[in-house]
Amino acid sequence: MVAGTGFAEMGNHVVCVDNDIKKLSKLQNGVIPIYEPGLEDLIKNNVTNGRLQFSSDLPAAVRSCDICFIAVGTPQSEDGSADLQCVEAVARDIGQAINGYKIIVNKSTVPVGTALRVSEIIAARTKHPFDVISNPEFLKQGGPS
Ligand SMILES: NC(=O)c1ccc[n+]([C@@H]2O[C@H](COP(=O)([O-])OP(=O)(O)OC[C@H]3O[C@@H](n4cnc5c(N)ncnc54)[C@H](O)[C@@H]3O)[C@@H](O)[C@H]2O)c1
Repeated sequence: MVAGTGFAEMGNHVVCVDNDIKKLSKLQNGVIPIYEPGLEDLIKNNVTNGRLQFSSDLPAAVRSCDICFIAVGTPQSEDGSADLQCVEAVARDIGQAINGYKIIVNKSTVPVGTALRVSEIIAARTKHPFDVISNPEFLKQGGPS
């Protein structure tokens, strides 16, 4: 949400996709589920000016964009490794929706080798060209000072 809002503030058109309908409905009603200083105003301004949208329609979002960021949760499994189920699920959805060249950016915290895994998942579902790049999130969570 923070990354997407930042990109919208820079002038890009951003669709933040989530499959959590309750979270989406809060966002669509202007209720921001996390606290980051200044984030609420940035979201409201960019939603109002049409550069930021929230949606559950991943295929439509993929078709409409040039760059897809994967930024889903990767909780630690019992053995300490990152659970990649959500990353792989989104890669499958992206692979099915691709309609032309896309850049797929992995922002989730993942182990080395995940870009290759994501590429394989997408390539198994489309003949359209794409590239996968890694851009791990290094944001520090904000909070009231
Ligand atoms: N929050 C941070 O400050 C921070 C910092 C560094 C790295 N990261 C990494 O970034 C990634 C995301 O972290 P976060 O804090 O934003 O997690 P989050 O749980 O707040 O958000 C992830 C969202 O992905 C959605 N989602 C899961 N599966 C989906 C699917 N198949 N389709 C659509 N939406 C789906 C969830 O509903 C959830 O709202 C993690 O890998 C985390 O380790 C986060």
